[in-house]
Amino acid sequence: MGNASLAVVITQPRGPLAPGDQVQLTDPKGRRHRLVLEAGRSFHTHRGSLAHDDLIGKPEGSVIVSSGGTAYVALRPLLADYTLSMARGAAVIYPKDAGQILAMADIFAGARVVEAGAGSGALSCWLLRAVGETGLLVSYERRADFAEIARANVERYFGGPHPSWRLVTGEFPAEGAAGTLGPGEAFDRVVLDMLAPWEYAHAASASLREGGLVCCYVATTTQLSRTVEALRGYGSFDEPTAWESLLRGWHVDGLAVRPEHRMVGHTGFLVTARRLADGVTPPPRRRRPAKAARPEAAEPGTEPCDQR
Ligand SMILES: C[S@@+](CC[C@H](N)C(=O)[O-])C[C@H]1O[C@@H](n2cnc3c(N)ncnc32)[C@H](O)[C@@H]1O
Repeated sequence: MGNASLAVVITQPRGPLAPGDQVQLTDPKGRRHRLVLEAGRSFHTHRGSLAHDDLIGKPEGSVIVSSGGTAYVALRPLLADYTLSMARGAAVIYPKDAGQILAMADIFAGARVVEAGAGSGALSCWLLRAVGETGLLVSYERRADFAEIARANVERYFGGPHPSWRLVTGEFPAEGAAGTLGPGEAFDRVVLDMLAPWEYAHAASASLREGGLVCCYVATTTQLSRTVEALRGYGSFDEPTAWESLLRGWHVDGLAVRPEHRMVGHTGFLVTARRLADGVTPPPRRRRPAKAARPEAAEPGTEPCDQR
């Protein structure tokens, strides 16, 4: 079930800068400002003002000089820039994790995806761009104030309502979200970025088609452990995969080529698991878990020294 029949076409703006475009201005120190172009308006910084009219009609990538003499590079923001600078209710998924989710949860054009919670709508933007106009994204957000922030952020990014998006203010249904689709239909992907995804193993399984995939983003090791154990214990997923990604920028200047001194050391962990066919249980794991991993299974008198 796609949305190809809807008339709205979502395109990324190209060509000369035009009224209504979002523009990111970057000064020589790398500081960024974002504005929406409007004929007749001015943008003020502590380094002087810029007339929007001086940008309108210029090619993207132009340099504009403020009345105070500072040069700014003018570009339309990338989605990574946009999600990091947009208004926030809840904490957003960082671009490095959004990229991992798109790749490792295999979000494809035309996919039917359900996510919870929508939070500030950052991941919703990435997912909508990936599923496109032939796909479907249903986003649940239990907080009405966050849902409104998510809606505003997504609509600002796409320049209006996205034809593939349904935002639902409310809890991710405990019985799963497949009921929001036609009879006998199910989602290809479930993406959970919420406090307690381990409570939703059944809901994820019931939302997914056979062969579908659940992807959970969690911030702490305790959440990671509970999520993996819940998916493993539920009985309708194959063995979960868990990982984190670290992104370290590099300073490259002449002979001074080295990692940046500062990095974001932690964002979150990702877990994915595939939904097995109806009535199938996962085959026994080939590698038996270490006894010490499950103290309740350890022989009396043994020390849980090997936690791996
Ligand atoms: C960290 S935020 C999500 C951020 C979002 N992925 C983004 O990139 O902007 C987590 C959100 O999940 C929502 N939430 C938690 N449990 C939920 C549930 N059971 N159903 C729906 N939303 C839920 C919270 O209200 C919160 O807004």
